[in-house]
Amino acid sequence: MSTSEIQTVSIDLQQRSYSIAIGSGLIGNPKNYAQLPAASHALLVTNTTVGPLYAEALRGALQTKYAKIHVVTLPDGEAHKTWQTLNLIFDALLENHCDRKTVLFALGGGVVGDMTGFAAASFMRGVPFVQVPTTLLAQVDSSVGGKTGINHPLGKNMIGAFYQPLLVLCDLDTLKTLPPNELSAGLAEIIKYGPIADMTFFDWIEANLQALLDRDPAALAYAVQRCCEIKAWVVGQDERESGLRAILNFGHTFGHAIEAGLGYGNWLHGEAVGCGMVMAAHLSRALGLVDDAFVMRLSKLIRAAGLPIVGPRLDQQDNAACYLDLMRVDKKADAGAIRFVVIDGPSSAAMRNVPDVMVRSVIDVCCT
Ligand code: NAD
Ligand code: GLY
Repeated sequence: MSTSEIQTVSIDLQQRSYSIAIGSGLIGNPKNYAQLPAASHALLVTNTTVGPLYAEALRGALQTKYAKIHVVTLPDGEAHKTWQTLNLIFDALLENHCDRKTVLFALGGGVVGDMTGFAAASFMRGVPFVQVPTTLLAQVDSSVGGKTGINHPLGKNMIGAFYQPLLVLCDLDTLKTLPPNELSAGLAEIIKYGPIADMTFFDWIEANLQALLDRDPAALAYAVQRCCEIKAWVVGQDERESGLRAILNFGHTFGHAIEAGLGYGNWLHGEAVGCGMVMAAHLSRALGLVDDAFVMRLSKLIRAAGLPIVGPRLDQQDNAACYLDLMRVDKKADAGAIRFVVIDGPSSAAMRNVPDVMVRSVIDVCCT
């Protein structure tokens, strides 16, 4: 794909279908919003980091479409993905007399996107919203598929709703201002799509990792497009995660335990997922589903992407017990039994119940 083109990926969900537009210079172009429904109000939801960079461009592009454009600027960070911060969005909607046609725009990374989506799902029982993801992680994963929500001190993303956006606009230019560790965090979710769905793509990532780290526009454009295609394929078959969609959580059971156990924001979500994939690969190996070569190959790529591959100790006394307790509140847990996404073949993942003793030995091997 040439970098001046707009690539479109479709999510096919009957009346909830929508497009993901991927390209450069998208945010400030009014044409990209032409198909959205008419409304008097729009609310741009952003944060203290992203707002100063991109809110004016978005506001300018929406000016001919909406008479009243409001902006709410949230505090930045995973630690703020809470009820208190969510309420700032409702405050802005109510103080500005927004009605049920009001369109919400999520301008930011996955934290802003998940919270804006949840606000849209619940304000007046549902108003339309648009995702304008500005991190690599949000462009390849969180802005697509309609999972919205907030954290609870006892569990990550525990409160939320499935609620699809009307449109996702991935403006690749925003990735130029992303800090390097946030770029690496996005690479974790990109790498994830290989083992679970497309090892040919995994080969491509290995071959193009340096180009991705160097932010080569064509490499980023292809990676975002391919990830969105895979996610669209999965979500199109299982929107509400009754089965297949769980594969997108490869590495996340361990990763969410790391995030909650260390305190939200201490490790980036993508860092926790990267390390969690290494742990889940070891678990797959312990179950005899993959060989040592696969575990080494995945670990090598994750480390080369700038991500941790050794898990943190969450408790000095009984680290494994602490992980296990945290993982029991995972959304995939069933009657107290933790269920893990494991790799069970090339481009193939499955859900498994794993005995605690095996999980313990993986945690012991993988944590410092
Ligand atoms: P984030 O939203 O915290 O963004 C990372 C950091 O980058 C923040 O400080 C942000 O202000 C900054 N930032 C964003 N865009 C920028 C830009 N263009 N230039 C400079 N700085 C920029 O984190 P994230 O990694 O985007 O998202 C992680 C969140 O997404 C987690 O809460 C995770 O649970 C959620 N998530 C949700 C889904 C889903 O399906 N809904 C999937 C994966 C992750
Ligand atoms: N990121 C996991 C999912 O969307 O299902």
